[in-house]
Amino acid sequence: MNHKVATLLNEQINKEFYSAYLYLDIANFYTRKGLDGFANWYEIQAKEEQDHAMLMYRYLQNNGVEVTLEAIAKPDKTFVTLTDPLKAGLEHEQYVTSLINTIYEAAHEDKDFRTTQFLDWFVKEQGEEEKNSMDQITRMELFGDDARSLYMLNSELAARVYTAPSLTL
Ligand code: FEO
Repeated sequence: MNHKVATLLNEQINKEFYSAYLYLDIANFYTRKGLDGFANWYEIQAKEEQDHAMLMYRYLQNNGVEVTLEAIAKPDKTFVTLTDPLKAGLEHEQYVTSLINTIYEAAHEDKDFRTTQFLDWFVKEQGEEEKNSMDQITRMELFGDDARSLYMLNSELAARVYTAPSLTL
């Protein structure tokens, strides 16, 4: 595998673990606020991010690339309102989308179509994650000020269950 592509994928492992950490911090915030459904949703999101990291870790290993694990940064966002974490989540997903696109571009330039095919799943996943984040912001802005509606939103998010990623290597 081309050095640039391998380096970017290796860096992305770290970014995905950071994403897991950020989402765990968001879950932590909602737990403190008494919103266990929101916390559940973000704890599951954190698990999914670990899955993303592990898929990249395994993909590199399967292609004979030595993986280097770097330190994971501390989540440094400050949340005050109930919408703050949702907005931080969307902003973060948009950033991750740009990172995935950069890796995709590097792989495509190198005619590394095995990697572009591997990344296709992530491109689609990013679309889903951005949409989920936008929907949550919309719903919180529409209903978050009403206690009864907030209770229902929370109950809905409490029902989310973890499922393993559809991509297998
Ligand atoms: Fe691994 Fe939320 O993207």
